[in-house]
Amino acid sequence: MKCQGIIFDLDGVICFTDEYHYEAWKRMADDMGIPFDRQVNNRLRGVSRMDSLEIILEKYEGPALSQADKEALAAKKNDIYRESLARMSPADLSAEVRETLEALRAKGLKLAIGSSSKNAPFILERLGLGNFFDAVSDGNCITRSKPDPEVFLKAAEFLGLAPEACVVVEDAVSGAQAGRAGGFAVACVGDACAAGTGDWNLSAFSELLERV
Ligand code: BG6
Ligand code: MG
Repeated sequence: MKCQGIIFDLDGVICFTDEYHYEAWKRMADDMGIPFDRQVNNRLRGVSRMDSLEIILEKYEGPALSQADKEALAAKKNDIYRESLARMSPADLSAEVRETLEALRAKGLKLAIGSSSKNAPFILERLGLGNFFDAVSDGNCITRSKPDPEVFLKAAEFLGLAPEACVVVEDAVSGAQAGRAGGFAVACVGDACAAGTGDWNLSAFSELLERV
């Protein structure tokens, strides 16, 4: 089926907020004496906030934590993270991403976001993309995070397209798995590209233009 829509992951695909996630979790982990490095961080890509915390706590050796303690830790990380987001502006959207998005739209493709993040609307607003996408499916409208395909299936539904008519663009292995599980073609960048998990493993975001 001809590609009619593209569903983009946000953190690590449209913008570099994956780095801010890393820095915020790193501060929390360091404060608690929990070993945390970029290898562990790659496992958090695409995964919800609370599931990310559970992965980090695999190496925690202190006193038992209640659900309320865990929620407080996740809230603390989110506060640190949002301080970084608040400093973002449209200048933080790369020219390559902006020009590629505009060229894809000019080809008549529908464009959506499919992100596990509850901060997605805030990030899009900071980047000046608050009204750009035809649909936004994010952490606020799903019950299961990637590798479950729910967020992408919702995005396709919002666009009024079948999964087979859409391409998912991901930097997370869990996200690539979610795309595949939902019946989408998957284009990968970054970590997921390095792992070779996509139907297309792109060395640059702008390569999308040659594929659709
Ligand atoms: C995903 C990120 O986009 O959103 C994950 O790849 C993150 O690392 C998840 O945990 C949830 O984000 P937030 O902003 O709701 O904490
Ligand atoms: Mg991502």
